Amino acid sequence: MTMQTRVSKDIDAAVRLLSAGDLVAVPTETVYGLAGNALDKNALLKIYETKHRPSFDPLIMHVASLEQASRYVRHIPDAYYLLAEKFSPGPLTYIFDKNELVPSLVTSGLPTVAIRIPNQPLTLELLLRLDFPLAAPSANLFGRISPTTPHHVLKQLKGSIPMILDGGKCSLGVESTIVHFSEGKLQVLRFGSTSPDQLKEVFKGSIVTPENNSIVAPGQLKSHYSPAIPLYFGKVADLVRQYKDKKITLITFSGKHHYPGIVNLPLTLNEDMAEAARNLFSTMYEAENSGADLIIAEKLPEFGLGLAINDRLRRASAND
Ligand code: TXA
Ligand code: MG
Repeated sequence: MTMQTRVSKDIDAAVRLLSAGDLVAVPTETVYGLAGNALDKNALLKIYETKHRPSFDPLIMHVASLEQASRYVRHIPDAYYLLAEKFSPGPLTYIFDKNELVPSLVTSGLPTVAIRIPNQPLTLELLLRLDFPLAAPSANLFGRISPTTPHHVLKQLKGSIPMILDGGKCSLGVESTIVHFSEGKLQVLRFGSTSPDQLKEVFKGSIVTPENNSIVAPGQLKSHYSPAIPLYFGKVADLVRQYKDKKITLITFSGKHHYPGIVNLPLTLNEDMAEAARNLFSTMYEAENSGADLIIAEKLPEFGLGLAINDRLRRASAND
């Protein structure tokens, strides 16, 4: 079904649509989310349908406070209170044991639910005005590039949702970090905008990150965030040599690479990781529309936000 998709800052309209069981794309500080009433089975089905998302990939539930979260979970570990003091509202998602109020469509049948408090003024106000939480995966088609502007959302979902709440460009640009406190340890299930080093400053116990952990979030498929043309990820000089007969567009961190006839889209001009994260997905959209045969993306230093950015680029480069 095709419908008009309005882009607007009208929170009242968003409240009306969501309360009627419709979907609205909402801004967060990380990426735009495709939001629906997390307690309404039909709204949840619409999310999976609209995104073409497989039903084994669970959704994050968004709330305005930990207090609101407490209605939907069995217990809030002390570790989460500690983390929330520093990181919420913000780009950190917590895994809880869910209670019976959370539909199994949110969690893909898992006994746990992912919850986050986004740090975006329009969406926080929206959450405060609703009497239900919002289930919101990133507002892209399944497997494609995550959206950080209303325009990105329109490119993928125009005509299939009634409204995009316009919060401009997302301030962080890479999804939340997902953590699960269990058996006394903090497991990082997905690298994201809160780095393990930041977590370490607050959580003094043991932190297990995805490199040395076999437990990852379900739905973290090897191939994800894919542009419409092939993307190769690694050492720029080697890859440029390997694909020298093709039309290449580069995505780089250092911006220092100069090859005659090759477009270079630097993520940042002064090796600023936060700027690189903010520009990551918009640069991927730009690269896929640059008329090139393929994209070569430079690997960033493997620390801080570099871990999350490299994770996205690695998945964008996988083609199985
Ligand atoms: O920054 C973000 O987290 C954005 C914004 C919109 O909030 N949302 C987002 O949602 O990235 P999505 O659907 O693209 O990714 C959510 C991921 C799922 O793929 C899954 O891996 C994980 O969250 N997840 C959800 N529920 C889970 C659970 N119960 N246990 C483990 N992982 C879970
Ligand atoms: Mg996503």
